[in-house]
Amino acid sequence: MKILVVGGNGTIGKTVVNRLKEKHEIIVAGRKSGDIQVDISDIDSIKNMYKETDKLDAVVCCAGAAKWAAFNEMTEDDFYIGIKSKMMGQVNLVRIGKDYLNDGGSITLTTGILAEDPVYMTTNAAMVNGSIHGFVTAVSQELKNGLRINVVAPGLVEDSAEKYADFFPGHSPVSMQKVANGFVRSIEGKRTGEIIRIYE
Ligand SMILES: NC(=O)c1ccc[n+]([C@@H]2O[C@H](COP(=O)([O-])OP(=O)(O)OC[C@H]3O[C@@H](n4cnc5c(N)ncnc54)[C@H](OP(=O)(O)O)[C@@H]3O)[C@@H](O)[C@H]2O)c1
Repeated sequence: MKILVVGGNGTIGKTVVNRLKEKHEIIVAGRKSGDIQVDISDIDSIKNMYKETDKLDAVVCCAGAAKWAAFNEMTEDDFYIGIKSKMMGQVNLVRIGKDYLNDGGSITLTTGILAEDPVYMTTNAAMVNGSIHGFVTAVSQELKNGLRINVVAPGLVEDSAEKYADFFPGHSPVSMQKVANGFVRSIEGKRTGEIIRIYE
């Protein structure tokens, strides 16, 4: 399969790319890194990216930002950081990307455990993760030409544990292997509309 991995040079993205490239042709997109540059918070940038990739068998997004701050310090604009990037960035990857996918292709988005098990200072991430779960469940009914869509929701991953462990008290980091398996399940399996939780 020809697979585009947006954010394929990030912590999760690298693991996903390393696994997928054993069997598939991979194009990596990133803000600054990768084969193609894209800013998912900018619709024109997404359109230009897809023009460069041409037809694909799968699109994977391992990118998306949200504001990490205490609720009482969050401005309205702070909330728009997650809405524009992790939420609408991923929704727009689907809106535009569906026309670049071959019949039977798939889209796999990324959210995280914060949708259901938020820690302190994560109102923005929890909000947009939850909204992507609703979006994937709903849009899976409407995609044409056999297109499938799923979302992988990892817990704190092992490769980020050292940096973020203090923010996730009592959480057990999930192995990179298990996270990669979630993406393989979405891309190579047949299910659609699935929230693939990798929490332990
Ligand atoms: N790390 C975790 O423990 C964890 C757990 C659960 C969920 N998640 C979620 O998984 C996703 C990836 O996390 P990560 O830790 O792998 O992040 P990361 O290491 O910061 O990597 C992010 C990747 O996305 C790209 N990127 C960032 N903003 C972008 C934008 N606006 N447009 C296009 N590409 C962009 C970056 O490109 P450049 O390389 O060019 O900078 C980088 O390749 C995030 O949504 C995160 O919330 C992470």
